[in-house]
Amino acid sequence: MSTLSPAAATRDVLEPDTECAFCKEISEAGKNSKPPKLSRRGAILLGVSGAVFAGVSALLVPFVIPGIRKFALPYIPASSAQINNVMKALAGRSGSLIDIGSGDGRITLAAAQKGFRAYGVELNRWLILYSRWSAWRQGLHQQASFFRQDLWKTNLSCYNNVVIFGVESMMEPLEKKLQAEMPSGTRIVACRFPLPSWQPVLTLGEGVDTVWLYAVPESLAGNRSSLSSR
Ligand SMILES: C[S@@+](CC[C@H](N)C(=O)[O-])C[C@H]1O[C@@H](n2cnc3c(N)ncnc32)[C@H](O)[C@@H]1O
Repeated sequence: MSTLSPAAATRDVLEPDTECAFCKEISEAGKNSKPPKLSRRGAILLGVSGAVFAGVSALLVPFVIPGIRKFALPYIPASSAQINNVMKALAGRSGSLIDIGSGDGRITLAAAQKGFRAYGVELNRWLILYSRWSAWRQGLHQQASFFRQDLWKTNLSCYNNVVIFGVESMMEPLEKKLQAEMPSGTRIVACRFPLPSWQPVLTLGEGVDTVWLYAVPESLAGNRSSLSSR
């Protein structure tokens, strides 16, 4: 019967001279082997696919991020019917207008065409670039401006008219923001989803193209009765 201590037994197992033939073979083979070499074609393919992946990610990430924020608001462009309804709701109005979450700028540009000094705020840098390019192309760059900005961090108090094409979950917090910031006499147009508590003064269109017009009353606007610059 063996009387070796556990430590001695372990040493015996790990001693090099007791290494098995198979293990020796493996370790010898390892010493002589060279890392696999990438062919020129393989290297080019790897570089191109890496560049394509990086490019596609850079393009797509700005479209995905707004959809996974606290109030997920993905890019869905307004239909022509929706834009017509917004413009009809604002007939007779003038001054400044801001589309919060302006997408490719279509509502801002339609408003600029109607004579508003129009602004758009948007998180997606590609959509901002596209909107600015569209403004130039349509000769509206003096009347329409676009900023890469978070709508929740945008002070709305200096605009006469606000347009929002949002999602249902954001309408309640947005209502609170509007109530805190908008002076009396200003107008808000909500597309597709209404503000949950305010009473609209006008509803136009139907289904997904419905828009609701709100006039901020003195009672909700508190002491803010005058507009500053924009
Ligand atoms: C439903 S789309 C409306 C686009 C445009 N207003 C229209 O009617 O065609 C909402 C837009 O809001 C943008 N967005 C989402 N979260 C935002 C945020 N926190 N601040 C500014 N824009 C945001 C999205 O990128 C998207 O383009």
